Amino acid sequence: MRSENPGTEPILEVRDLVKHFPVRVGVLFKHTVGQVRAVDGVSFDLNKGETLGVVGESGCGKSTLAQVLMRLEPPTSGTARFNGRDIFAMRGAELRKLRRSIQIVLQDPYTSLNPRMTVGDIVGEPFEIHPEVAPKGSRAGKVRELLDVVGLNPEHLNRYPHQFSGGQRQRIGIARALALRPDVIICDEPVSALDVSIQAQVMNLLGDLQSEFGLSYVFIAHDLSVVRHLSDRVAVMYLGKVVEIGTEEEIYNHPMHPYTQALLSAVPVADPTVRGQRQVIRLEGDVPSPVDPPSGCRFRTRCWKAQEICAQEVPELEPRGGGHPSACHFAEERSVVP
Ligand SMILES: Nc1ncnc2c1ncn2[C@@H]1O[C@H](COP(=O)(O)OP(=O)(O)O)[C@@H](O)[C@H]1O
Ligand code: SF4
Ligand SMILES: [Mg+2]
Repeated sequence: MRSENPGTEPILEVRDLVKHFPVRVGVLFKHTVGQVRAVDGVSFDLNKGETLGVVGESGCGKSTLAQVLMRLEPPTSGTARFNGRDIFAMRGAELRKLRRSIQIVLQDPYTSLNPRMTVGDIVGEPFEIHPEVAPKGSRAGKVRELLDVVGLNPEHLNRYPHQFSGGQRQRIGIARALALRPDVIICDEPVSALDVSIQAQVMNLLGDLQSEFGLSYVFIAHDLSVVRHLSDRVAVMYLGKVVEIGTEEEIYNHPMHPYTQALLSAVPVADPTVRGQRQVIRLEGDVPSPVDPPSGCRFRTRCWKAQEICAQEVPELEPRGGGHPSACHFAEERSVVP
């Protein structure tokens, strides 16, 4: 299912991306008392035709990252280039074109689809905003084509979202994201709200669409098992930072960072004989607040390997132990799933 020919040419280059939200108090006169450090220095490349999985627990900044890359939220600092051009500097016609080229599919098809619009209007709405893509007379035909491409009955374009199942609604969201023929789709937990059997169908559809249209995906999930079969590479996030990034093989078979190892040890294993052999790493405590993250390594309050240096020095995300980049002073390969 992984991309057949993921390129080596980056379509998206993200460098030191930061997004802080002010914490304000006061009823009449609000003043800022701190910052939510939602995304705190994230760097990665997305290559053409590739899927980059982005995984981490709830609240680690995945959706904020997506919103900033979509230009729905301004960054606090850092850069992101699309085909070599700084997306935060884009204005006018160039920004309009960017808004066609990068699309998003959201987790919750129930709230992201307008219940009072027909499916035809929902899928065709991007053409209203970008009429240059489809002249008025051609739109109904294009909407039918899109419904067909995502495996829905093209004759159902006059139905409303509530007349579809959860999986079908996610297909509607995908059809809408495809309407403007984008290059990149950011999938923000698109299957997290669906039953496991339906999840597989939607993931297969996304894989097929990638081959057919040469799409590049940033695929966000809170669980390493979901992204495995679609991802060429995976970035693991913790409290606003990437702690490890590598190929699917590197992350799943040779994880270096304790957090990745803990996440992997929680992935469900189907084979009962293997299940018994596996050592589950239970993480103690909760994720600390991104308003006041721990000094040094942010994972140290939950890490069983933490030493004094971990509180003093931020571990850089860099190749360690002859392997792929990880952000741990004591990075060491430990295969978790036998
Ligand atoms: N608009 C906002 N204002 C203030 N804090 C926010 C805002 N959006 C997200 N956050 C905070 O930023 C952190 C990261 O959130 P989010 O990006 O939604 O994480 P994830 O998608 O990984 O669950 C959380 O602590 C969240 O409460
Ligand atoms: S740097 Fe220290 S606290 Fe952080 S993951 Fe590595 S060992 Fe654990
Ligand atoms: Mg989210």
